[in-house]
Amino acid sequence: MSNLDSLDTIVSLAKARGFIFQSSEIYGGLSAVYDYGPLGVELKRNIQNIWWKDMTQRHENIVGVDAAVFMHPKVWEASGHIEGFNDPMIDDKQSKKRYRADMLIEDCILNLAKDGKKEKAAEIQELLNTSGTRKNLAKDLYDIIIENEIKAPDSGAFDWTEVRQFNLMFKTAFGATSSEDDGVYLRPETAQGIFVNYKNILDTSRVSVPFGIAQTGKAFRNEVVARQFVFRMREFEQMEMQYFVEPGTDSNAYALWKKKRLSWHKSIGIREENLRFSDHPKDKLAHYALAAVDVQYKFPIGWQEVEGIHNRSDFDLTQHQKLSGKKLDYFDQKNNKRYVPYVIETSIGLDRCILMVLCDAYREEEVNGEKRTVLKMHPELAPIQVGVFPLVKKSGLQEVARKIEAELIEHYSVRYDETGSIGKRYRRLDEAGTPFCITVDFDTIETDNKVTIRYRDDMSQERIPLNKIAYAIKEGIKDWKPS
Ligand code: GAP
Repeated sequence: MSNLDSLDTIVSLAKARGFIFQSSEIYGGLSAVYDYGPLGVELKRNIQNIWWKDMTQRHENIVGVDAAVFMHPKVWEASGHIEGFNDPMIDDKQSKKRYRADMLIEDCILNLAKDGKKEKAAEIQELLNTSGTRKNLAKDLYDIIIENEIKAPDSGAFDWTEVRQFNLMFKTAFGATSSEDDGVYLRPETAQGIFVNYKNILDTSRVSVPFGIAQTGKAFRNEVVARQFVFRMREFEQMEMQYFVEPGTDSNAYALWKKKRLSWHKSIGIREENLRFSDHPKDKLAHYALAAVDVQYKFPIGWQEVEGIHNRSDFDLTQHQKLSGKKLDYFDQKNNKRYVPYVIETSIGLDRCILMVLCDAYREEEVNGEKRTVLKMHPELAPIQVGVFPLVKKSGLQEVARKIEAELIEHYSVRYDETGSIGKRYRRLDEAGTPFCITVDFDTIETDNKVTIRYRDDMSQERIPLNKIAYAIKEGIKDWKPS
């Protein structure tokens, strides 16, 4: 069992071990923007590479694309982001602090439930659930806040502005002589880069419906409430795939991708009991969606979305067709018919996925009266997969250890370490999530040509011959199960 009761534990570990740092920290930091350190960048790349391989190379009908962050401003008109990509915000007039109105209400519900006022909590929850067809969401949320006398968490005041909608896109000037008209947006999702390349890919690759286009890349959102570490960031990375299907087959494809994506989360070692689906109620669907479901993970802050799976219908292609004037339909030669494909989208936040992996892997254990902190993550994700140590800093042992390092480095990420006691070296790599450690000792060079392999999860140790190290690691990865 994980004994993680707060995100703060992960924030501290991530900083102390060089996974994740606050951006521009020496200047006091930049809110909701983070940098990945040496261990973090390896973990990030490992997750990204696994996703890429699983989504593209393991599906012969899914190809990749890498679109630019900047896109023609019309893209965001077509997608509905200029009109509708808003968060409802409300300001406390006393403290001048800004809150996301729906989150303010959710926090109030949580506090009521904690204080045992379950009926009142359920009543407000019901109001929140039924609030807003999207048009009058701001007014509905305002009414809930006023009628239930929800106070500002920081000042305790009950002195609110109206709820206003706040567009989440960052706008910037384009070119040296830019005017208002030259404004471009930093993309708030990678998906639109896929839609605008759909025709290029159809014309140049040997794909036919059903087929998918996958992309990973940065997205930017000026989140009103930016907190909870890398869970909600203003600059983050998405891994998205749009699967183009014939209308009428979309429900089946949606069900298939739901299944596939949940299996993917389990395949990267996330414990089943910490994963679930949460369907979006029909009246809360995004403007483009016919159906939507979140894959949620049980974070220390509660069940939260890690990935969204959406049936986007033909909304995006039809919109781009309308605004660009270019035909974006598909000709099905076999059946001699034309249609605009429907799209099933899978969209996962890479940073949120990293947070999920860290939370799921984190354990504190007591070993011989001392605390052991260990990240029991899937060996394929581990930033350092193998530690190689000479028992002591002595010629003879060092050369053999260096030779093992040189051989393993062709296949795994390896860390050679000869400083400190063996126990300390194990602990350091336990905190980095390293699943295997190899120790060369005097018996290795004097008597048996064997090394000790130590397994991270149960700390068990075995003597194995030098020529069986690579095999033992390969088997260890293959047989690994979350514990
Ligand atoms: N193209 C669809 C789309 O962007 P979304 O539900 O808004 O859908 C998809 O975002 C995923 O992107 C989310 O499930 C989440 O993992 C990630 N994400 C969204 N906003 C984020 C933020 N501010 N910080 C970190 N990750 C975010």
